[in-house]
Parts: sequence; structure tokens; C-alpha cells
Amino acid sequence: MTASARESARLFDPFDPAVLADPYPAYARLRDHDPVSYLPEYDVWMVTRYDDVVAIARDPARFSSKIGMSPDFAVAGGPQTGVSYRIGAPSVRVLIATDPPEHQIFRRAVAGAFTPASVTAATPRIRALARERVRVLRERSEAGCGDFFTDLAEPLPVLVLADLLGVPADMHEEFRDWSTVITKDLDQASGPPRVGRGIEMFRYFSRQLRRATPGRANLFDAIATARSAGVSEQELLAFCAFLLVAGIETTTNLLTNLMAALLRFPGLQDRIRDDPGLVPTAVDEAIRYDTPVQALWRGTREPVELHGRTLPADARVLLVWGAANRDGRRFDQPDEFRPDRRPNDHVGFGAGPHFCLGARLATAEVAAVLHELFAAAIRVEPAGEPVLTRSLVLRGRTSLPVRLVSR
Ligand code: HEM
Repeated sequence: MTASARESARLFDPFDPAVLADPYPAYARLRDHDPVSYLPEYDVWMVTRYDDVVAIARDPARFSSKIGMSPDFAVAGGPQTGVSYRIGAPSVRVLIATDPPEHQIFRRAVAGAFTPASVTAATPRIRALARERVRVLRERSEAGCGDFFTDLAEPLPVLVLADLLGVPADMHEEFRDWSTVITKDLDQASGPPRVGRGIEMFRYFSRQLRRATPGRANLFDAIATARSAGVSEQELLAFCAFLLVAGIETTTNLLTNLMAALLRFPGLQDRIRDDPGLVPTAVDEAIRYDTPVQALWRGTREPVELHGRTLPADARVLLVWGAANRDGRRFDQPDEFRPDRRPNDHVGFGAGPHFCLGARLATAEVAAVLHELFAAAIRVEPAGEPVLTRSLVLRGRTSLPVRLVSR
């Protein structure tokens, strides 16, 4: 190990339990002392300053999204690590792992499924689903076993996606089961993708795509229109599967991270409850403050100089959105949670051409939960130790015991 590699390892050990519990002090050290940091054990370059992360995300000519993630890193990182390399056969393009010009064509073809109008139209149904989960959480809390993850944050994004895909209500539980299976299958660290029970879901997707009618309201109808732009049947199916990976656990993580902040900072709940106009900025701040997708991958197409380091061609680069979002060069008092922070140019949904297609949807879901919780005049209190996700790229809680108290 070279001296500089040793230095990086000292500044940042991704699986040190203290770093997993709270990566932000380690990110601060990297931003200040080693902003383009090489981790030899994983053969990856971590980029942590806001301006660098944004510049790279906007530079697909030099930094490709086609790079996958190496299985050894996935093993080291635990099961919930990456999305791009697992889905489908290598010949099947998945939006997030394509580069221009292919990316623009593909993205334009599916973007119709995520218009602001479609999210606005879905908002009353999202509110109803959120209300029902708040009811369940309240009931479980009264029974002494409320868990914000199990009762609300985990099921809600699945139910919302099922609703948008037009999956009938009596199949929602089944859909939830399938999506768990497929997400876990796609996250397996080694070996060929095991589709397992997810095959039933692919059959279901396939039938729905065949029946889809352009101009109708559900996501399948919009996704199916991508056929006319040359997206193959297999790619459409892979896209549907990708939505489960991209849109469910991410939103679950955001919900739990926001709740963790509400439990941690005294007064935050009262402030938002007393001024519901703060909900949109509070949701943005939650994404910035404790970023659900902490990092994602790029690969260099050519040697690149950055802060005096030379990244060789074909190097794997980790854009650390979570570190960029705490960069004091960009954000005033970055370690403070300010529910009214404005402007808030966080990169929690990425930046550049691959900016998250589901950002509006995710934001609407989380806003609905805040409105429903506080409309029910509820105060939420901690009721046990949370369990953190063990992953370098995803950050969330897989258990968050809470007690709901009427005011
Ligand atoms: C809080 C929840 C979410 C977070 C934090 C999040 C985060 C991200 C990030 C960081 C990217 C950029 C990827 C890159 O630059 O390589 C991305 C892309 C994407 N996200 Fe999300 N996402 C969330 C929810 C969703 C939802 C609900 C959906 C859809 C149902 C979705 C669909 C997508 C898609 C399709 C892309 C790929 C866009 C492209 O490659 O052009 N995401 N997301």
C-alpha cells in the first residue's frame, strides 16, 4: 500500500461501524484533505466535494454510466449496494446504465410516465395510501409495537408504485411480495441473477405491457409507448423491474431518515405541524441532510486529472452525493437540519442527464406522510433503538420503533 493509499484508508473505512453509523465526519475529512480519494481495497475513487460531484455527473463524455459494480465490492458492501449491473442480460439496456446518445433516446421514451401532471393526478391516492399506513402505525403503536419502517416506510412506496402501475387493489399484497423477492434477487452479490418467484411478476408485467393502450392513465401505458422509440420488449420489462429497485427502497430510506431527524431534533415536529407550508422544503432538507442514495458509480473513459490526482482510464469512480450534500463550500451550516432551507440545491436525486425520474413522485409520497401524520395531530416519539442499513451506497433504517402520541 502506498503512503497516499494508507492515508485514504485512514481517512475513510466504509465498513467501520462508526462510519456506517455516521459517515458525515469522515466525509468532511475527505472533502478537506483528500477530495479525490483512492480506496485500494475496492479499487475505487471517491469524489466528495459538491462542485466535483456535479461536474462529473454532468460530464458523460468523460465519465460513463455504463460501468457496473464489481461483485467483490457488493459482497463487501452487503446485499443492498447497487442497481446497475444486475438487471437483465448484458445486452439489455437499463436506463441508468446507458450513455448519450442512447441515454437521451431511452429516457425520452420513458419520461412520459413521470410527468408532473401524472404525479399531481396521483396525489389524492397517495394521500389515501399514506393515511391508511398512518392508521396502521397508530394501531400498532397503541399495541406497544409501532415500527415506522415496518408499518409505514417499507409498505408505502410499494403500494404507491403498484397503484401507479394499475395493479388492482386485491393484488397489492402479492405485488408487495413479488417486489421484495425481485429486489432481493437483483441485489444478490454473485452468480447469475436469480429471478425466482419474481418470474411471476415478469409474466404479469409482460401481459400488462401487451394490453397497454397509449393515452390511458397508468404507468404501463406510458412505458409501453417507448416501443415506438425502438426500446425492445426485454428492455421494457427490465425497466419495469428497475423501477422497483430504483423507486422503493430509496423512498423507504428517505422516509426513515426523515423520521430519524424528526425524532432527533426537538421542536422540528412542532415547527412543521404549525406551518404545513414548510413540508416541501423540509422534505428537500431531509434528502440533503441524510441522503438516501449516498453514492453512485461512474467509470472514466480516459485518464482524468482532478485535484492533482490522475485517474486512469476505466477507473471506477464513486460520486458521493451524501458528502456533496454536506459540503460547507455550497451549503450554509451544512450539518444543521433547516426545514426552511432555501435555496437547497442538493444532489440527493443526482445531477445532470441521469437526474432521478421519480424525484417528484418520491417527494409527493414523503410530503403526503408528513401531512397525514400531522393532520392526525400526532407527535412521534422514539420507542427503541433504530437499525441502520449496512451499505455504502444506500442509507436508511430497517427498524425504527416509535410511539405515536396524540397532542
Ligand atoms: C427518495 C427516493 C429516491 C432517491 C433518493 C433517488 C435517487 C436517484 C439518483 C441519485 C439517481 C441518479 C442516478 C445516477 O446519476 O447515476 C436516480 C435515478 C433514477 N431514479 Fe431515482 N430516486 C428515488 C426515487 C425514485 C422513484 C420513486 C423512481 C420511480 C418510480 C425513481 C426512478 C429513477 C430512474 C428511472 C432513474 C434513472 C434516470 C436516468 O438514468 O436517466 N427514483 N434516482
